[in-house]
Amino acid sequence: MRAMQLAELKAKAEALREEWQRALASVQDADGLEQVRVRFLGRRGELTRLFSSLKELAPAERAPAGQLLNALKQEITDALAQKAQLIEEQERARRLAAERYDFTLPGKWRPLGHLHPLTQVRLEIEDIFMRMGFDVASGPEVEDDYHNFEALNIPEDHPARDEWDSFYIDERLLLRTHTSPVQIRVMKSRKPPVRIICPGRCYRRDNPDATHSPVFHQVELLWVERGLTMANLKWIIEEFVRRFFGPGYEMRFSADFFPFTEPSAQVHIRRPRGEWLEIMGAGMVDPAVLAEVGYDPEEVTGFAFGLGIERMAMLRWGIEDIRLFYQNDIRFLSQF
Ligand code: PHE
Repeated sequence: MRAMQLAELKAKAEALREEWQRALASVQDADGLEQVRVRFLGRRGELTRLFSSLKELAPAERAPAGQLLNALKQEITDALAQKAQLIEEQERARRLAAERYDFTLPGKWRPLGHLHPLTQVRLEIEDIFMRMGFDVASGPEVEDDYHNFEALNIPEDHPARDEWDSFYIDERLLLRTHTSPVQIRVMKSRKPPVRIICPGRCYRRDNPDATHSPVFHQVELLWVERGLTMANLKWIIEEFVRRFFGPGYEMRFSADFFPFTEPSAQVHIRRPRGEWLEIMGAGMVDPAVLAEVGYDPEEVTGFAFGLGIERMAMLRWGIEDIRLFYQNDIRFLSQF
């Protein structure tokens, strides 16, 4: 291998300087920049090759030659970094220009699904009672005669059964006609105090009209504890109506009869200038029902109500036909 002179290496370094400067000047983008880096600084790059020729120099010349090459390398590295930054800025400016928004254009509506109005009302009712300290309980929609009727003090052949025209599945099973059977299930599985609400679907063989549907929804409320009275029941209902509807709704209590409550009441509500609409049946849990689930009627008393969710929604929004909730007409549903 022919020995190299310092002067020759200097000349090569000088030539290299011109070359990389020219190469860098014509670089347009990040890819081009990388090519320049590889060409000069890469493992087989031109500067790297000059470095390996250092060993061909006389030992005394190697140090100054090394300094020269290191300085050159630093120069190239700095220039590359500068250029990289420049390219990035240009790229950013180009993107900003290309992606400019015109904020004066009108916005676009994007249709979104939402909860069914009955679901909205149910969740709101649950929320109100959960804040008052009630648990949410549930039970089967296919019930047996015992829970739906008998344990609620409605024996077979009792004329009150006609109140709940039922869909029977066989001798013993039916679609529950109200949410009251959940009371029985919960009380049989817990000791008092009991404080629950049970929202759910109910079924009756009613002919559909503006205020009746064979499928509808109720929320049952039950509170059993020592010392409860009808006055506590009245407070709960008034407070609930106030929280759900806000001020301006009138409420009316009147006497009623249910086999599982004594005394019993029905509650009517009227929106401002509207018609009276019954929203619930209520009353003090009959001692016979407490005894049936193994509670001592001398120890505890309780009250319950069964509330129609559809009725609440109709009152809130002034809806006049219950069937609208089940027809899935998007023109109706999209209003909520
Ligand atoms: N279960 C009764 C009905 O559906 C309503 C009710 C519930 C009445 C609780 C009193 C107490 O008609």
